[in-house]
Amino acid sequence: MKVIHDSKELQQTALALRAQGKTIALVPTMGNLHAGHASLMDEARPRADVLIVSVFVNPTQFGPNEDYEKYPRTLDADCEVCRAHGADILFAPTPETMYAPTFSTYITESACSQGLCGRSRPTHFRGVCTVVDILFNLAQPNVAVFGQKDAQQVAVLKRMVQDLHIPVEMVVAPIVREEDGLALSSRNQYLTPKERAAAPKIQAALQTLKNSIATGTDATEKLAEIFVNELSADAVFEPEYIEIVDNTTMAPLKKIEPGNTLIAVAVRMTESRTRLIDNILV
Ligand code: PAF
Repeated sequence: MKVIHDSKELQQTALALRAQGKTIALVPTMGNLHAGHASLMDEARPRADVLIVSVFVNPTQFGPNEDYEKYPRTLDADCEVCRAHGADILFAPTPETMYAPTFSTYITESACSQGLCGRSRPTHFRGVCTVVDILFNLAQPNVAVFGQKDAQQVAVLKRMVQDLHIPVEMVVAPIVREEDGLALSSRNQYLTPKERAAAPKIQAALQTLKNSIATGTDATEKLAEIFVNELSADAVFEPEYIEIVDNTTMAPLKKIEPGNTLIAVAVRMTESRTRLIDNILV
């Protein structure tokens, strides 16, 4: 596996590979790789001749009071995960090689990005779209793999690819969970022991909603109320939002539409102030 830190070097390497007729799969990450990221690499590996994994904690997708500085950076361990899951190239740039000092061009998706996480993180998806487009231009992928855990990110990026006619196939891999149901996330390590013990209740509350839907509850307002009541019993949870939306457009739904409904939640943990997100497709 080759490790590349410079953006021009990655672009030249990728262009040369494409000129030789090789196909490229890209897995963009922010590092601190866990089994969720490994599953994205496993999904990507058989889809192309060359697998590129990027590890970059992207400053433009963090708000002013978010965790950019403390976001875990573990490049040596990340190298091992990439190697073990068949990556050919690990791209680990510095912010300086990604963003020139004069940088002033951003991509704004202005429909799917407005609700859910976009409400409390107003510049987040602008940063995500911008960096992913830069990564696409550098890595020249035929296919890119993202995780369903960030369901709104997937919707926003799919829209960007469609709107800007970007020639990349978007593949979405399922959420990977701990045995107790907690969705894997690099931010889980911020949780206090009490919060970690309680955190699987988020997934359990989502399952309760699935059961309520199966037994005939289809009014989304009622379902949101059930979710909030389930979590409010425990003082470690401060639900930020529960949104029941069209999975493609992220537009709110009044009634469940089986086949294309996403139930997405964000919960703030009261001790560490960690924000966890999770979702289920109905
Ligand atoms: O999902 C992530 O880890 C990031 O948002 C991404 C897509 C790598 C862009 O920085």
